[in-house]
Amino acid sequence: MLPAMPDLEGKVAIVTGAGRGIGREYALALAAAGAKVVVNDLGGSLSGEGADATPAEQAVSEIEAAGGEAVADGENVADFAAAARMVAHALEQFGRLDILVNNAGILRDRMLVNMEEDEWDAVIAVHLKGHFAPTRHAAAHWRERAKEGEEVRARVVNTSSPSGVFGNVGQANYGAAKAGIAGFTLIAAQELQRYGVTVNCIAPNARTRMTESAFDMPDEAGFDPLDPANMAPLVVALCADEAQGITGQVFHVWGGAVNALRGWSADELFATDERWDADALLAELVERYPEGVAPGGTVAGIQAAGGRSLQT
Ligand SMILES: NC(=O)c1ccc[n+]([C@@H]2O[C@H](COP(=O)([O-])OP(=O)(O)OC[C@H]3O[C@@H](n4cnc5c(N)ncnc54)[C@H](O)[C@@H]3O)[C@@H](O)[C@H]2O)c1
Repeated sequence: MLPAMPDLEGKVAIVTGAGRGIGREYALALAAAGAKVVVNDLGGSLSGEGADATPAEQAVSEIEAAGGEAVADGENVADFAAAARMVAHALEQFGRLDILVNNAGILRDRMLVNMEEDEWDAVIAVHLKGHFAPTRHAAAHWRERAKEGEEVRARVVNTSSPSGVFGNVGQANYGAAKAGIAGFTLIAAQELQRYGVTVNCIAPNARTRMTESAFDMPDEAGFDPLDPANMAPLVVALCADEAQGITGQVFHVWGGAVNALRGWSADELFATDERWDADALLAELVERYPEGVAPGGTVAGIQAAGGRSLQT
């Protein structure tokens, strides 16, 4: 019998972007399950400007008020050296590191034809490099522990998005980063399995400052599927020792619906025994796709994965 709540007693977690929104819920839930938490948050605006220590400090106060242990960290996840300091902070403060939840993020939405270079660069940096840098430093630490003969049971939980796995108009920068994070998850999972580290990924859906306008759905009595706290049970479950065999997965979450996505798996095959002739291949493509073929987009993807309908 598994315990009623996964027991993370004695474990130490870093949650990036944990001052607000979904990350804050992860930090509260991990602390409630017994983990000591480094609450990382730069505290800037939604578009990634400025810095403010207050959100991280408030989340720490909440954890402490509930009887947990936490420390605030204001490092920028997109800065390689700063990410190393964040990992060192966990080790100095709590003496170990078991869990890294990469969650920090920003938005600079724009149609592709109008997108400016800085809008592309900033979003790719915070999300994609902001996943690589902390994971790289944490993984080096776990490899050292494994080489010293310790049985490591470490966890990385990454954050993709329906925008990255289904594609969302107006988010070429963000969706490309989020698709990259899903790909990064597959490779990191395979590389780090030998050291006892699992690497999984969540494509969340929640009402936060990031999605207030997109998720402008009427309030209903009872269970609110868009409460950011709905994302936390999956993170806590994946961090339990019992989940040691589950790695390299990308989970879509909407309310109580957790869907294990299959991305880029083999599908329609166009094969000959020799090199294709372009004319023959074109004829085959047109025959096989008489109505054409195009991505269904984010709303269709969310619905297929168990989410409710949204306004397009
Ligand atoms: N809300 C949703 O429905 C949804 C959907 C898909 C993906 N996501 C992803 O979930 C994650 C959390 O988003 P949220 O909705 O809670 O947004 P949010 O804006 O409420 O929280 C993101 C937090 O990350 C912090 N942050 C930003 N840049 C940082 C940096 N460089 N270093 C450290 N901290 C930084 C911010 O200060 C903020 O507190 C993001 O990666 C987001 O892209 C959210």
